[in-house]
Amino acid sequence: MKLQPVRGTRDILGDEARLFREIIDQFSNLATTYDFSEIETPIFEPTGTFKRTLGEASDIVNKEMYTFEDRGGDSITLRPEGTAPVARAIISNSLFREAPLKYFYQGPMFRYERPQKGRYRQFFQFGVEMLGVDSPTADIEVLALGQELLTRLGLARDTELEINTIGDDDSRALYRSTLVSYLSQHKDKLSEDSQKRLQTNPLRILDSKDAGDIDIVEGAPPFDEFLNDESKKFFAAVLQGLEKLNIPYKLNPRLVRGLDYYSHTVFEFTTNKLGSQNAVLSGGRYNGLIQSMGGPETPGVGWAAGLDRVALLVGEPKNKKESVGVIAVDAPSQPEALTLLQELRSQNIASQTFYSGNLSKQMKKAHKRGCKSVVLIGEKEINNKTVVIKDLETGEQREVSRSQLIENLKGQ
Ligand code: HAM
Repeated sequence: MKLQPVRGTRDILGDEARLFREIIDQFSNLATTYDFSEIETPIFEPTGTFKRTLGEASDIVNKEMYTFEDRGGDSITLRPEGTAPVARAIISNSLFREAPLKYFYQGPMFRYERPQKGRYRQFFQFGVEMLGVDSPTADIEVLALGQELLTRLGLARDTELEINTIGDDDSRALYRSTLVSYLSQHKDKLSEDSQKRLQTNPLRILDSKDAGDIDIVEGAPPFDEFLNDESKKFFAAVLQGLEKLNIPYKLNPRLVRGLDYYSHTVFEFTTNKLGSQNAVLSGGRYNGLIQSMGGPETPGVGWAAGLDRVALLVGEPKNKKESVGVIAVDAPSQPEALTLLQELRSQNIASQTFYSGNLSKQMKKAHKRGCKSVVLIGEKEINNKTVVIKDLETGEQREVSRSQLIENLKGQ
């Protein structure tokens, strides 16, 4: 049997790989414009980095982490997300004095989920985190960055910003107990998952996709009635900032997000173009995260986007692979063809050669491999200090002096 990659993982090739690179380049440029600096944390972490921070009752910790014991007997986890590792890195490197801390990152993440279109077990995220700022301005700024990126990628019309607040700890505790007593009255009718969550993670029931749960949730007391003034004021300022910057949003009172570290603002840019995997870029505020990891009180806000999903929406890379073919028309001219290749590449002209076959076979190969033109060189051209440029689309060919080759190719 042919060797295959592990279920839920895949090889990123050709156009998709090029598109990934283009998206990441756009993202890095934009994040740099917003004054974020790049951070790269290890792909695996001590399991503790995720266990408490994401929440013992969260889906990720409960059933999706790739956790194993290494040869030294330590419990290691392949990172399922990037926020907790960034927080860990800030603690490990004692970066607190330099607030605001603004980091961007990208790389593979790992979750043992049921694979389907847009959902993988190894997937790619890029994201930003801003720490040390408890003002709503930070929320507005990271949201503006997300919106601008999606616009630059041509996805503004395919995505919609859904936003909600889950308030501060006090508001959430108050709401939680009210919600639990309401849902307990309907316990028998809740889905099996939600019945379990009633004890461990009742807020998650609010965004259950189960039709029966949705009916029950509709009758639940609304969260916003339990927000204290602080929380209301904070959220109002975030929304006001979005309006000021003309960033359209939709309030979604059922949006609660699946990770324990969130407080106040939570949001998701969603799409209806990817079936059930509708979240493209999501995040929120996490004021208690660093403290829960043993660091000083340090508020934070950020988001991460699924690169695989963004790429599905964008579709095609902008810059197609293009290069110039270089062909020696006779065997003695081979070494000179190599010199030509070196010359083109030193001028950043993408170029390739073909290692076997007669002239016509090599031309066909060049066409197949995306060359728009080929440079031909033989004994006659070497003697005349010229080359022949042949346009593979029109069939036209012209002889140009060797010294003007680069100019000619760049002007094409
Ligand atoms: P998350 O919502 O779990 O949040 O993931 C962020 C994004 O990663 C999702 O919106 C989705 O596009 C993508 N994603 C998640 N799981 C998969 C998967 N199995 N396959 C493909 N794409 C996937 C976080 O990870 C938080 N750390 C975001 C954050 C940053 N919050 C604050 N700062």
